[in-house]
Amino acid sequence: MTAGRLAGRAGLVTGAGSGIGAACALRLAAEGARVGVLDVRGDAAEATAALVRQRGGDALALECDVSAEKQVAAAVGALVAAYGRVDVLHSNAAALGAEVYGRDRELAGLDVAVWDRTMEVNLRGAMLMVKHAVPAMPDGGSIVLTSSVSAFTGDEAHAAYGASKAALVGFARYVATMYGARGIRCNAVAPALVLTPAAERALSPAQLADKAAERLLPWPCTVEDVAHLVAFLACDESRCLTGQTLILDSGTLAHRPQHAIQRSRLLP
Ligand SMILES: NC(=O)c1ccc[n+]([C@@H]2O[C@H](COP(=O)([O-])OP(=O)(O)OC[C@H]3O[C@@H](n4cnc5c(N)ncnc54)[C@H](O)[C@@H]3O)[C@@H](O)[C@H]2O)c1
Repeated sequence: MTAGRLAGRAGLVTGAGSGIGAACALRLAAEGARVGVLDVRGDAAEATAALVRQRGGDALALECDVSAEKQVAAAVGALVAAYGRVDVLHSNAAALGAEVYGRDRELAGLDVAVWDRTMEVNLRGAMLMVKHAVPAMPDGGSIVLTSSVSAFTGDEAHAAYGASKAALVGFARYVATMYGARGIRCNAVAPALVLTPAAERALSPAQLADKAAERLLPWPCTVEDVAHLVAFLACDESRCLTGQTLILDSGTLAHRPQHAIQRSRLLP
């Protein structure tokens, strides 16, 4: 598989064992890139890498906790040993399990360990990936960070998650500024609810209905929708785009909340 907008490039996707990251790794490979499929769950990374190979692509599974610098250095080193360089980094891993995201509740009762682990994985993890990938980008490259609409809105829970995702919006600008002269671009994508199996399991039918009412468009974002945008940001078609955060939300943030409330009252 060599044809495509990323033919001859080497990509690295974190959190690629499931959901958005898996779809993005598959998409980068479909565009011709050889991909490092990185996840803290080695078996999940291997499963995505196997799927890439099944579809005719080239993938290297990397078991790594993005918050641990030695592991990140070793994973980037293994990718460079296999593919010679890094052209595309998609930093996408986040601590979304019950023990971290699930306990990211009201601040007055917050276990500080939840805040710290959220920042360690979501923010320090992105910084470590960039720190170690940039030296492996001798001829420029494209970095994409996964933020979230939670960067732009408040909520009654998930302050740590939202703050970490908001920090990534600023971090993208700093990386873009620091490395622009070397031809390295950095952008973020900020999806609203993406209907992964995990997200569907985590939300009640009433919560899913609320999310649907908030959207202007009748359809939610899928992992493939995110992968389309990440592939565009990874390839040269977006060569003048850097320091930006692109919101992918079927119109969730584009209107006054009142609009959704009024519309839901009008619906049968
Ligand atoms: N699904 C959504 O609705 C949604 C919306 C907005 C943003 N996001 C963001 O998209 C990204 C992917 O989310 P998803 O929905 O695909 O979730 P997911 O749980 O399916 O995937 C996350 C992956 O990250 C891995 N991971 C967790 N901690 C890690 C660590 N320390 N090191 C390496 N890998 C680690 C997990 O093992 C998992 O495979 C996250 O950054 C999330 O915040 C998701």
